[in-house]
Amino acid sequence: MQLIEKIQKLKTQRNAVILAHNYQVDEVQDIADFTGDSLGLSIEASKTDADVIVFCGVHFMAETAAILSPKKTVLLPDLNAGCPMADMINAEQLTKLKAKHPDAVVVSYVNSTAEVKALSDYCCTSSNAVDLVKAIPADKRIFFVPDQHLGRYVIEQTGRDMILYPGYCSSHARIMAQDVLDLKEQYPHAIVLAHPECNEDVKKIADEKLSTGHMLKYAKQSKATEFIIATEPGIIHSLKKQNPGKKFYPATMRAICPNMKKITLEKVLWSLEEMKHIIKVPDAVAIKARGALERMISVVPK
Ligand code: 13P
Ligand code: SF4
Repeated sequence: MQLIEKIQKLKTQRNAVILAHNYQVDEVQDIADFTGDSLGLSIEASKTDADVIVFCGVHFMAETAAILSPKKTVLLPDLNAGCPMADMINAEQLTKLKAKHPDAVVVSYVNSTAEVKALSDYCCTSSNAVDLVKAIPADKRIFFVPDQHLGRYVIEQTGRDMILYPGYCSSHARIMAQDVLDLKEQYPHAIVLAHPECNEDVKKIADEKLSTGHMLKYAKQSKATEFIIATEPGIIHSLKKQNPGKKFYPATMRAICPNMKKITLEKVLWSLEEMKHIIKVPDAVAIKARGALERMISVVPK
């Protein structure tokens, strides 16, 4: 309790806002001013009037906030909270690939580095990738990086023939179709919600493919009372909190993202005390990446 009080006091003193991703540990989600998916958090970061944004998520999310809100101080409580998928492609690799496909526009998943975003025409998240790709003129070739699984989902939904990069999320890769089938046997009436980052076998047996934000919306509106959740299990906390009468079963605890779990309440406090770790994107990179990110936050799905 003392810890939480200290955080609240410092937050007011620094005029700070705490943003947390749906995969954060329960107690961090609970103290956040806003908990959401990648798109919701980016929009929130772009419009906040706080002076300081404490970003409880991974590095690319804090970088995105710093690009969209260049006048704010963006803090990441643990500098080692990275995203293996974002690190699967760097600027040098993307530059070479762009030279191979000079006619293609680059759509990068927000789970990418600022340098990769700076080389992209558009950014997207899992909640608006389909709408964003649909809005790109049909005669344009699209090169989609880095998540092959989100890319395949977008191809399936839009019928667009995109060039894919072989990146993937190492946490979602641990969700097996058999995990879902076993739970389905135990809970035959449960609706299966899978994140587009899951592999194709898992998505094939899912009732719905949804971003974390859309999973929360779906669970609230659905008449169903039992759900199998094929994504990082951190989201179960918000699902249960928002739907006390419903049951949520994580497909597997193997899908825990160790990077998302690096942020703790103590680190949030230290971050506000010491104003660490400030995430700054060099102007030359930020200017180029901002256009792609502004296109991303302008596509808000229903
Ligand atoms: P969303 O919350 O946008 O669905 O993203 C999932 C994710 O893996 C973030 O790293
Ligand atoms: Fe990256 Fe996957 Fe962790 Fe999201 S869940 S931060 S995509 S490793």
